[in-house]
Amino acid sequence: MQLPLLDDMHVHLRQGDMLQNVVPLTRAGGVGRCVVMPNTDPPITTIESAIRYKRELESGNTGIDFLMTLYLCPDLRPEDMVAAKDAGVVGVKCYPQGVTTNSHWGVADLRGYDPLFSAMEKAGLLLLLHGEVPSQSEADICILNAEERFLPEVARIHEQFPMLRIVLEHVTTREAVACVKGLGDTVGATITAHHLELTVDDWAGKNHNFCKPVAKYPHDREALREIVAAGHPRFFLGSDSAPHPRSAKEGACGCAGVFTAPLLLPYLADTFERLGFLDRLHDFACVFGHTFYGLPAPKGKLTLEKVEQIVPPEYGGVVPFRAGETLGWRCRNS
Ligand code: NCD
Ligand code: ZN
Repeated sequence: MQLPLLDDMHVHLRQGDMLQNVVPLTRAGGVGRCVVMPNTDPPITTIESAIRYKRELESGNTGIDFLMTLYLCPDLRPEDMVAAKDAGVVGVKCYPQGVTTNSHWGVADLRGYDPLFSAMEKAGLLLLLHGEVPSQSEADICILNAEERFLPEVARIHEQFPMLRIVLEHVTTREAVACVKGLGDTVGATITAHHLELTVDDWAGKNHNFCKPVAKYPHDREALREIVAAGHPRFFLGSDSAPHPRSAKEGACGCAGVFTAPLLLPYLADTFERLGFLDRLHDFACVFGHTFYGLPAPKGKLTLEKVEQIVPPEYGGVVPFRAGETLGWRCRNS
């Protein structure tokens, strides 16, 4: 089967040696264009650092089209949003403080950013939301209800800035799916390959499946599967592939993140085929994302072959999703 190169609308490509390892693997997984997350150390908070980061990503000559983002923080000024857009930045990513990797520079209170959101709306920049409230912020919050508790904020921002395109990233709950579905055409959501497979039982005590937001109940996973099977155009691929060295995943306090980049297309094909909606793969991974972002169709094709492969135990010290398991598909760049 021939497919266009994938659009991955949410990926972590890191810096330095890890970046040099991960970028070619991302291309091998079928990705031709991706939205690069800014939660590096230090985070990407200026137009200049976004341009520098893009150059570093391009140094591997993979041909991937890297779409850059800025990290929401007080340094971002409304008057710079047009220049950011002109420099190739596509959006601003909001990390509520303390909810995930490198989010300690993140947002303690979203109120106060309205002038920035207004400028982004006018400039055509997207607002990308990590949709979890911090555990300390309210009573009775934990990682199982943190996403659901965030949803009123999505509705509020949308109501106030109806033309601002908002992406609720890596949705994991039935409530988040319903919320995005119920809001207007300017609100979309990314779905990862791993959240279509995992529930709580798969990560509790199993560090390599631990990511933020955590996979939730079986009925939540079902809601993700149903919206993908329905071919809803505002739900599209964002892998949230997030590599960490094995030692950082397996320590007493393991880092959050699942690494799917090297086999992204085979994982998706394996899941979509098993669940009976392989025919939805093309639009989910190659059409809906760039359409929501207002970008042209991808250039370049790849071949998806029905050939089994075993997921390797490691890629340069990083353990991939489903290591050691057999996938029914292989991807060949053509
Ligand atoms: C991501 C990372 O490691 O950068 N981790 C994760 O579990 N998804 C950050 C994020 O997107 O939350
Ligand atoms: Zn992420």
